[in-house]
Amino acid sequence: MGTGCNRRQFLRGAAAGWAALAAGGAGAAEEPLPKLRVGFVGVGNRGRSDLRELLLTGGVEVRAICDIVEAKVVQAQKMVTDAGLPKPAEYSRGPEDYKRLCERDDLDLVCTATPWELHTPVCVAAMKAGKHAATEVPAAITLEECWELVETSEKTGRHCIMMENCNYDRVELMVLNMVRQGLLGDLVHARCGYLHDLRAGKFNPRRDVLWRLQHSIRRNADLYPTHGLGPVAQCLNINRGNQFDHLVSMSSKSQSLHDYAVETFGPDSWEAKLDIALGDVVTTLIRTRAGQTIVVTHDTNTPRPYSRDFLIQGTKGIVRKYPAAKIYIDKRSPRHRWEDLLENYADEYEHPLWRALRERAKGSGHGGMDFIQAYRLVYCLRRGLPPDSDVYDAAALSAVTELSERSIGNRSRTVDFPDFTRGGWMRREPLGIVEA
Ligand SMILES: NC(=O)c1ccc[n+]([C@@H]2O[C@H](COP(=O)([O-])OP(=O)(O)OC[C@H]3O[C@@H](n4cnc5c(N)ncnc54)[C@H](O)[C@@H]3O)[C@@H](O)[C@H]2O)c1
Repeated sequence: MGTGCNRRQFLRGAAAGWAALAAGGAGAAEEPLPKLRVGFVGVGNRGRSDLRELLLTGGVEVRAICDIVEAKVVQAQKMVTDAGLPKPAEYSRGPEDYKRLCERDDLDLVCTATPWELHTPVCVAAMKAGKHAATEVPAAITLEECWELVETSEKTGRHCIMMENCNYDRVELMVLNMVRQGLLGDLVHARCGYLHDLRAGKFNPRRDVLWRLQHSIRRNADLYPTHGLGPVAQCLNINRGNQFDHLVSMSSKSQSLHDYAVETFGPDSWEAKLDIALGDVVTTLIRTRAGQTIVVTHDTNTPRPYSRDFLIQGTKGIVRKYPAAKIYIDKRSPRHRWEDLLENYADEYEHPLWRALRERAKGSGHGGMDFIQAYRLVYCLRRGLPPDSDVYDAAALSAVTELSERSIGNRSRTVDFPDFTRGGWMRREPLGIVEA
């Protein structure tokens, strides 16, 4: 493993942590740890993938694993022993057994990749028991949960990290690097979203994964805002000199998931008789304190190719990732024409993390970004550095679900974002460009 960040970045990071501590805030710097001792809650598809990436970093000891399905615990235990580490303890005595895991006295971090409704309860139990918490996305599904995370993290001084892996994808990090170097000028606008045909997944016949469908039945909202918004928030310095201020949200009618159910399972099936609340396309428009607008799309019920619609626009240029990575820079690109981003700009603007970790990340989840995320999580916690994203980021990004739901439910009326930092965003430094 390399040296992580350079000295200036270390000092800046540490200073930010100490300042947060002095202000009674969450996200403080910590004592370095020889190995990160981890407990895992929820080892389904994603949990096992997170576990694999953490093991690949070589910086963790996995002490305990919890899942309501014992066979999944056994599978995950084997992954750990196959990696040459001691067998972790098993926790599978029911839906609240994660609390027993959190009470262990030999853990630094509890990770959770359970269904959404358990993310906040697991993180809160972990922090109250003195552990850092890392959760899959979203960190919370209501505003009340967002506040609970913030208050618990502040009170306990433990980190609560939302594992937004898309923040670490190659193009997104390259664009962050460009933004920091001023290539795009002053940022004015962004687009992003989660546009992923999940129809088959929502009706997955394995009963334990139907939890995703339940949210589509109950809620008309942007149910999954963080994959799109995470990288945009990094570029716009959200919670670090800037904030989401207010939003309006509008939803199309709900049709495609029903049509899919009729075609796939027949008109008399229980699937076809479901009343789906979630509109096919939910569009949210956010305005930031610094004057930028962001269009966020949630589209998981229609037939379509995958996209996170990532686009950043400034006074000097514009860059987008989907359907192909393109860029236009004023006075540099041929007038009115997109250029190929990777071909023409990667040499100059590749993010240092990607330059350093590309080989190690090869073959890892989602094109390598999952490894880079795991690397940074372990790296920061082991060295006592503030993580790249903290509880305020987790809350601000997750809050979009309930805020969009309120706006949609109220003829797209404007809804204000809560200030989870209670004014702290004005004093917090933007994220640095970290190295590996
Ligand atoms: N970041 C990403 O790229 C990404 C990708 C996929 C999923 N996810 C997120 O990961 C999470 C899990 O998704 P998944 O696809 O792995 O779902 P899954 O259903 O495969 O896994 C969830 C696991 O949680 C377990 N579980 C349920 N209740 C529990 C409880 N009370 N205590 C302990 N374990 C419990 C289930 O048995 C299952 O093994 C979701 O939040 C999802 O949004 C993120």
